[in-house]
Amino acid sequence: MVSVLFRLLELQTLVLAEPQVPCYFIFGDSLVDNGNNNALTTLAKVNFPPYGIDFVNGPTGRFGNGRTTADILGELLGFDNFIPPFATARGQDILRGVNYASGAAGIRAETGQQLGGRISLDIQLLNHGITISRLVALQRNLAFTKDYVSKCIYTVGMGNNDYLYNYYLPQYYPTSRLFTPDQFAAVLIQQYSKQLKTLYNYGARKVAVFGIGQQGCTPAELAMYGTNGSACVEMINDAVQLFNNRLKPLVDYFNNNLYGANFTYINITSITAGDPSSAGITFVNTPCCNVSTTTGQCIENQAPCSNRNKYVFWDAYHPTEIMNLIVSGRAFRALSPSDAYPYDIRTLAQL
Ligand SMILES: *[C@@H]1O[C@H](CO)[C@@H](O)[C@H](O)[C@H]1NC(C)=O
Ligand SMILES: *[C@@H]1O[C@H](CO)[C@@H](O)[C@H](O)[C@H]1NC(C)=O
Ligand SMILES: *[C@@H]1O[C@H](CO)[C@@H](O)[C@H](O)[C@H]1NC(C)=O
Ligand SMILES: *[C@@H]1O[C@H](CO)[C@@H](O)[C@H](O)[C@H]1NC(C)=O
Repeated sequence: MVSVLFRLLELQTLVLAEPQVPCYFIFGDSLVDNGNNNALTTLAKVNFPPYGIDFVNGPTGRFGNGRTTADILGELLGFDNFIPPFATARGQDILRGVNYASGAAGIRAETGQQLGGRISLDIQLLNHGITISRLVALQRNLAFTKDYVSKCIYTVGMGNNDYLYNYYLPQYYPTSRLFTPDQFAAVLIQQYSKQLKTLYNYGARKVAVFGIGQQGCTPAELAMYGTNGSACVEMINDAVQLFNNRLKPLVDYFNNNLYGANFTYINITSITAGDPSSAGITFVNTPCCNVSTTTGQCIENQAPCSNRNKYVFWDAYHPTEIMNLIVSGRAFRALSPSDAYPYDIRTLAQL
């Protein structure tokens, strides 16, 4: 009798704790890396203080003061624990999903190599193939695994570094001499389209693709390029917009041509438009921490600003947790019709 009751309670706890989808897989760069770069030889790694100053586990390799947008989306989807990084996920850890993201990584393989090792989107997809094989081995039923992964949420946010750490670093990369901004956006999208199709072929059906934010407004780019008197480097924002403009038709194409696919586009430009001072965020172009002039990352062990919720930027490239809360909140539940197309992640989860 006692044992039956115990099992009933256990079942109830399980039901109550059930997330909206069985698992969540994350592909991306430093905006969502949660420790995959820690074991790499690269300048693009931040497993030291003051990173993680507001994070429950301290410095973990996350490129900010607190949770990333992927961490917060995981919470909004109802997961009790953070999705583990591929680098350290073992055994049953992978059942709720895996985070493959890597700082400095890009759509293009060479992107970010000036900083050292990184896991490009192609390699992230190969790693996902390994996860799928592990899932099949754990679940011992190919049809079950196929159905299981089709119900999961996938977020993909790539392209940032193909501009920051490729096109707009002409001293290291030839792309800006080979392509006009419009041509570069086109070749990136062509490669991205193949990569997203590979993800579909691994069984992904519910995919949210994040656009690139207003890169020309980051303290790093402001310092490097100057602004010509405007608030941001418009040349960079305009180039990135050419990439973003092609994502919406790409999502339409996938939804119309890949059987059973539900892709959606998350418009960061829309989400971050408007005056952040309405949310009490008043420092829009200076980082919260003291940054290294070579990496744009916080200098190790130096105290950051104390009023972190008043800053857009944590270091010279990465947003603060308060910005991540805004972005993930509106990606999950759109506030404006242009935040997510054709639907927000909450809707995607329910399909
Ligand atoms: C600054 O303005 C000039 C003239 O409009 C333009 O050619 C140049 O590309 C601009 N530079 C940046 C960094 O936007
Ligand atoms: C999701 O995908 C299915 C299969 O392609 C499609 O029938 C359905 O209309 C899509 N849902 C939405 C809300 O677009
Ligand atoms: C993203 O949102 C901005 C601001 O609302 C809008 O101007 C732009 O057209 C949107 N981009 C896409 C690709 O939908
Ligand atoms: C770090 O930043 C603080 C606050 O911005 C500043 O007062 C301090 O001088 C900086 N420290 C160093 C070593 O640059």
